[in-house]
Amino acid sequence: MSLKNKVTGDLQIEFPVIMAPMFLVSNEAMMKAGMQSGVMAVFPTLNYRGEGELDKLLHALNNFKVSVKVSGNFGVNLIVQQSNPLYKKHLKICVDNKVPFFITSLGNPGEVIEQAHAYGAKVYCDVTNLVHAEKCASLQCDGFIAVGQGAGGHAGPNPLHILIPALVEKFPHIPVIAAGGIASGIGMLSVLAAGAQGFSIGTKFIASKEATVSEAYKNAIVESGMDDIVMTTRLSGTPCSIINTPYAKKIGYQQNAFERMLNENKTIKKYFKMLTQIRGMKKLEDSVKPGNYKTLWCAGKSVEMIDSIESCEDIITSLRNEFEVAAKNFVKQLNQG
Ligand SMILES: Cc1cc2nc3c(=O)[nH]c(=O)nc-3n(C[C@H](O)[C@H](O)[C@H](O)COP(=O)(O)O)c2cc1C
Repeated sequence: MSLKNKVTGDLQIEFPVIMAPMFLVSNEAMMKAGMQSGVMAVFPTLNYRGEGELDKLLHALNNFKVSVKVSGNFGVNLIVQQSNPLYKKHLKICVDNKVPFFITSLGNPGEVIEQAHAYGAKVYCDVTNLVHAEKCASLQCDGFIAVGQGAGGHAGPNPLHILIPALVEKFPHIPVIAAGGIASGIGMLSVLAAGAQGFSIGTKFIASKEATVSEAYKNAIVESGMDDIVMTTRLSGTPCSIINTPYAKKIGYQQNAFERMLNENKTIKKYFKMLTQIRGMKKLEDSVKPGNYKTLWCAGKSVEMIDSIESCEDIITSLRNEFEVAAKNFVKQLNQG
């Protein structure tokens, strides 16, 4: 089923799925598979922190896009917070490589929007509420990624069926992509009904053949259900959804009183947040390696609907087929009465 709209036009893709950026999970093979399957494949620049790595990957993706004549496209995710020490450096490398699409998270996306628009790239901003959306809209963002409850990573506090219509009503000209808990055709159809024009899907792609995380992590995605997902502030200071492994239970889900105090202190909060994030990144990095028992595995509630490890191409094909079936069934249901 074709689903052409502003998002497919803006992002130059065939079907409005974003393979969501995932710290330590997104990789080159996943990006290429997504591009070949007609979707927008996005990775966080922080996955390529070594000298020259990001530039090399962007070269490779730009070449791939031209040489293979893909029906999808690629983009990057930039954490635009001051606590990301690589932000400015990574933005420059992305702009130099004319990255066609950006997703910004946290912080102020103004600089990214200005520099990306200078050469015609699009910038969609992660939003979890109307206040941040207002800020992004005033800076001329091209779209919103509405991150709702149940999402993998930094899930939002609001249900998508409230957040999306609220965004559409307040900003009718800015397209909204739904993120959080989508891993099936029914999930896609439901957010489309709420007013979204596309779907950002993360957790389901952790259980992909191309992902290079440990088999134990992939198996945990397949075996876990929605009640196995808990929120923790132990990783970055911001609530993050993880699988409730024995290690997660052991270390608890909250920062202690001293850490919370440092997080709120005006003078040191920037440095403390940076430190917390570096420590959290290290913990996550160790967790995705094989044989590590200190498992902190980031995932959203859509684990409930994930039953197997498949290639990215198969995942995308199934999603498109399921969407078609769900849409047809829904029309039948409407006509039954
Ligand atoms: C393992 C993992 C890592 C993530 N890392 C990032 C990240 O680095 N930057 C970001 O903006 N979002 C990140 N996210 C959030 C995703 O981009 C996306 O919003 C989310 O996965 C959508 O919800 P879903 O997991 O329910 O499909 C991450 C999500 C997961 C599961």
